[in-house]
Amino acid sequence: MQTIRTIKKMQAVAKLLTVKKKKIGLVPTMGALHEGHLSLIRRAKKAADVVIVSVFVNPAQFGPKEDFKKYPRDEKEDLKKIKKAGGDIVFAPEAAEIYPCDYETYVVLENLPKTLEGEIRPDHFRGVATIVSKLFNITRPDLAVFGMKDYQQAMVIKKMTRDLGFPIRIIIAPTVREEDGLAMSSRNRYFDHIGRWEAVCLFYALRTAREMVKAGIVDTKLITKEMRAVILATCAVAKIDYIAFTEFETLKPVKKVVKNTVCSLAVRLHGVRLIDNMKLI
Ligand code: PAF
Repeated sequence: MQTIRTIKKMQAVAKLLTVKKKKIGLVPTMGALHEGHLSLIRRAKKAADVVIVSVFVNPAQFGPKEDFKKYPRDEKEDLKKIKKAGGDIVFAPEAAEIYPCDYETYVVLENLPKTLEGEIRPDHFRGVATIVSKLFNITRPDLAVFGMKDYQQAMVIKKMTRDLGFPIRIIIAPTVREEDGLAMSSRNRYFDHIGRWEAVCLFYALRTAREMVKAGIVDTKLITKEMRAVILATCAVAKIDYIAFTEFETLKPVKKVVKNTVCSLAVRLHGVRLIDNMKLI
């Protein structure tokens, strides 16, 4: 497995692979890899000849009060895990390689980022869309794999890829969960024992929503009320940023759950902010 640190070298390698007619798969990550990321690498490996995994904690997608500085970094462990999961090339640039001091070009979507996460993290998707387009230009992939765990991000990237005409197939892979249902996330590392135990409240709430829909209750107000109760019963200190019901691709809010409605939520507990989502039918 090769580790590349510069844009120039990465572009040269990608060009060579393209000339050799190799299908390139890209898995963008911010490192601190867990089983969820490894499932994306394995998914890419199924569809591509060569899998490039980027490891870059992108400063542009963190707000000034967010956890950029303390975001977990462990490159040595990440490299071992990527190799084991079948990654072929790691692109791990320094921040100054991606954003030199005179950097001034950003990618902004007009509407999709205005709801859910975007309402609370105003410049987050500007940072994500910018880094992902840069990674597309640097690694020239035929396909790229993202996790459904970051539902809005996946929809933003799908839309951006279409709008900007990147010739790249976007694959959205299912969320990987811990045994108790908690969605895997690099931020789960922040929890102490009690926090980790209570973090499962997001999954319990989603499971409640799914069960209510199965029982024929589709009114999102009623479901939200019950979800709130489940969260607070599991974690009394939880602060719910939002519980939302949206159409799968457009992120338009719905009042009644229908086929493909996604329920997503963001909850802060024990100093950690988690997101999760589930398609309800
Ligand atoms: O999902 C992530 O880890 C990041 O948002 C991504 C897609 C790697 C861009 O920095």
